[in-house]
Amino acid sequence: MARRIRKPNGFFITLEGPEGSGKSTQADFLAVALKKAGFQVIQTREPGGTKVAEAVRHILLNPSKGESITAETEALLILAARSQHVAHLIQPALDRGAIVLCDRYFDSTLAYQGFGRGLDLNWLTAANNGATGGLIPDLTLLLDLPVSVGLARRRHARGTTNRLDRETERFHRSVRRGFLSLAKQDPRRIRIIRARRSIPAVRAEIETIVLNWITTRRGHRS
Ligand code: TYD
Repeated sequence: MARRIRKPNGFFITLEGPEGSGKSTQADFLAVALKKAGFQVIQTREPGGTKVAEAVRHILLNPSKGESITAETEALLILAARSQHVAHLIQPALDRGAIVLCDRYFDSTLAYQGFGRGLDLNWLTAANNGATGGLIPDLTLLLDLPVSVGLARRRHARGTTNRLDRETERFHRSVRRGFLSLAKQDPRRIRIIRARRSIPAVRAEIETIVLNWITTRRGHRS
């Protein structure tokens, strides 16, 4: 049974982008800026965000010895984690009037499992709607940068890589193309941020976009 979408008070903001785009660092900065501006902020990530969803994340990101994960299993595990996340964390926080700041959400599923793995976009969209009750973000920041730059940053920053980081450069190029195509289809919701620039420059642009956007949206609601 699909849940009904209720988003009466809060705002749902997501950060998206290919590997090494600096989303997590920028999410931390944005959370601080929004709290400073007086908002209640819940910062979370996908896959994960609840106990069950984090357990699913572990399966997804760590290679299983002797048994590969099919593209369909990967997608369904991600959606299972998302269903838990929406029901137990995101929707209740929005109902309380909080700003939910989420590092990755459904656009990642379309980009990675759709454009990257080649799964059917309509199937992914329908399954996602079933899993989430159709909850879509109010605003999405797409941190975009060339794949080679992102992958090099990632290897340098972490030293280790997860199961998806280790995909081919070609896979990651399809993912980036996917994100850009989604942004083109929905430019009102998805804002492209050029993430190759310095951290402070990206941070300043994100803060300006989000604070202006909230001011405008609040005007519409009152
Ligand atoms: P993570 O280490 O959090 O990477 P990042 O910092 O780039 O977000 O790992 C999350 C991985 O999960 C990342 O490689 C993208 C992948 N992913 C999907 O493939 N589909 C999805 O729907 C989501 C939410 C994530």
